[in-house]
Amino acid sequence: MLPDHLSHLPAPTADAVEHSGRLGALIRGTINDAGGWISFAQFMDLALYAPGLGYYSAGLHKFGSAGDFVTAPELGSLFATTLARQAAQILHSGIADIIEYGAGSGRLARDLLRALAELDCLPQRYCILETSADLRARQQMLLAREAPQIASRVTWLDRMPETIEALVIANEVLDAMPTHALRWDDAGPGCSVLERGVGIAAERLVFAEQPATGALLAAANALPLAAPYRSEISLAARAWVAELAQRLDQGALILIDYGLPRGELYNPLRESGTVRCHYRHRMHEDPFWLPGLCDITSHVDFTAVAEAGFDAGLEVLGYTSQANFLINCGVAELLRETDAGNANLNELRARGAVNVLISPDEMGELFKVIALGRGVPGPLLGFSHGDRVHTL
Ligand SMILES: C[S@@+](CC[C@H](N)C(=O)[O-])C[C@H]1O[C@@H](n2cnc3c(N)ncnc32)[C@H](O)[C@@H]1O
Repeated sequence: MLPDHLSHLPAPTADAVEHSGRLGALIRGTINDAGGWISFAQFMDLALYAPGLGYYSAGLHKFGSAGDFVTAPELGSLFATTLARQAAQILHSGIADIIEYGAGSGRLARDLLRALAELDCLPQRYCILETSADLRARQQMLLAREAPQIASRVTWLDRMPETIEALVIANEVLDAMPTHALRWDDAGPGCSVLERGVGIAAERLVFAEQPATGALLAAANALPLAAPYRSEISLAARAWVAELAQRLDQGALILIDYGLPRGELYNPLRESGTVRCHYRHRMHEDPFWLPGLCDITSHVDFTAVAEAGFDAGLEVLGYTSQANFLINCGVAELLRETDAGNANLNELRARGAVNVLISPDEMGELFKVIALGRGVPGPLLGFSHGDRVHTL
């Protein structure tokens, strides 16, 4: 029986509930071992990535129509084919390798490599860095089965290389990184910042607050927010971009995700934060409901991403909406090439996909693309045409 606030969700199977029960026991054990409280970031890390049990680590079907959500590469090959044009420009400038973070089902790797082969611009190596052992195994199977001619160029890395000379791509990875949750409180004299962590009450996971400290408090105090307000700060996402940026000797990072610049993200319109959970193509806002069965995400602060790169000496090569980026890279022309066949199922699928990819009501506006780089000549194709709307 689903609680009232989740009654719009399909009921999970008994096996799924049992699976979640095991992850729930692990999370409660971790909270007890920690003295009754863990940060929301630690909770999210366990819920998504606990080995064998977390949402991304267990063998559940996550992506596409049979899963919980659809990402751009899952909509067909058009996204990858369009992105390939941007990748080709960077590879032509003397960058030999591509590194993809969080490759999901492996479809982006497969379709990007196929499109780059068509453009006669295959990278020397296509390296994948994937946290989930289950997804890594699926990526290996997909590429060996469906792209055997190019699969030999693909390798899986266990950790971030010490020095990077590559084009680094990450689609919907930042939003899946653990985030801290906070509340700005105006109850006492002045405004205080509380960290919303996770505790246990009557055997259930609940939010539990304590004063924010250290780097989290410093990051919170840097935001011009008036209490009462609730939101998130992903120190993990900032640290990840900073580390990549420091290690990037030459090349570019292209990060695609849903999110906003700081001024729009931390805005009175979003006073309850942006944590969202996805289950069977429905969204809900209760991260403690059956952990392990739902994806948990939060919006990306693109200003923080740009700052982390900038602080490490990277240049912001471009920032725009996904729609603008794809249009600049020639998605319309590529769609016409699909049309040139005849009115078949592929054409109809491609038309449907382009609508989702660029429509402002779907992914077109909410998703942004940022490029950060060192030693890569601009302007980059995806950002080449006027965009005075999207600024950091
Ligand atoms: C929402 S899925 C997106 C998958 C794929 N990029 C796509 O667009 O379909 C997030 C992916 O990022 C991976 N991931 C999360 N944090 C990561 C990290 N720090 N390093 C590498 N992969 C990570 C997850 O395991 C998962 O494959």
